[in-house]
Amino acid sequence: MHDLVIPGMIDAHVHLREPGATHKEDAFSGTAAALAGGAVGVLDMPNNAPPITRTERFAAKQALFATKAVADYGLFAGSDGSHLEQVLAMAPQAVGLKLYLDETFGDLRNREPRSLAETFEAWPGPGPIAVHAESESIRISLDLARRYGQHVHICHVPHPDELLVIDAARQAGVHVTCEVTPHHLFLSDEAVARLGSLAQMKPPLVSPADLELFWERLDLVDLIATDHAPHTRAEKASAEPPPGVPGLETTLPLLLAAVDDGRLTHERMMALVYTRPLEVYGLAAPESEVVIDLSQGRYRLPLEGYHTRCGWSPFAGLPALGRVAKVTLRGQVVWQEGKLLAAPGSGRPLERVADRDRG
Ligand code: DOR
Ligand code: ZN
Ligand code: ZN
Repeated sequence: MHDLVIPGMIDAHVHLREPGATHKEDAFSGTAAALAGGAVGVLDMPNNAPPITRTERFAAKQALFATKAVADYGLFAGSDGSHLEQVLAMAPQAVGLKLYLDETFGDLRNREPRSLAETFEAWPGPGPIAVHAESESIRISLDLARRYGQHVHICHVPHPDELLVIDAARQAGVHVTCEVTPHHLFLSDEAVARLGSLAQMKPPLVSPADLELFWERLDLVDLIATDHAPHTRAEKASAEPPPGVPGLETTLPLLLAAVDDGRLTHERMMALVYTRPLEVYGLAAPESEVVIDLSQGRYRLPLEGYHTRCGWSPFAGLPALGRVAKVTLRGQVVWQEGKLLAAPGSGRPLERVADRDRG
């Protein structure tokens, strides 16, 4: 088999832990892992410690990424319902606003109906409001988007039946987009018996039958985003393991194997990991190229050898196809044969289409 050449993927949902938990990952190791996995752009979530709910925290995080990132990035603003004026002031620079309506890692939360309504009413864009929302909270989010004419993006859809709810809202005129994670497509809740806390995340894995329904309803999904959420092995082995799994380096070979199996077309895969992530967030594609070596055929994902600081993968052992041989970003070779060739700080904020068109 020959090489496959694609533009670099855009991963619209990652947690690179910078600042606050850089023993798990940081802007450098996380963006290096992105390049290793064939992604040249990542959108980073605001559930840092402290959470990115204030302009000066947003500016400090921007400065850290500016000196450390080796891939391009967009940063989310966050809100806990307080200091709305600060949240709105982050809007022009943020890739979107992230709201956590349900429990997950960290303490960034906002589920108070009044402040949610105020936030949905006031958010000026241009980025969408992305939500961590399960069941009832998805309905609340859809209702708020309809009421205030906002674009709401439903992160990591927890269950395939929610895709029907989201689609019904879309048909009714709500501006809604959504994403599914690779772990919900490639790992069922049977993995929890095998892997314990290494297979625990929010929202949790679904049954094998529901996993199949995710595949059957993939047409209703805008994009695939990893929700790359690294925690150390020691943290995962602790009495109260934090939820979350890494995914930056395994998504492309898993999807290529799925394409090989006829589960989706190559074109559909590219829409899910490249075209739609850019469109949903209104971003311009950085000029890039990923060369994928297919010469070794199918293989199983390894237990080790990852570039994410956490060093493990819940996908180890799963069928995979293709290895990232070379990544070029803005004309520079940034990754080749397992080696990083980009200098820290060479990653740039992803540009908005509107700004690029303006020149
Ligand atoms: O499992 C998860 N981990 N889900 C989230 O929503 C957050 C993430 C994290 O930051 O670890
Ligand atoms: Zn989440
Ligand atoms: Zn997340």
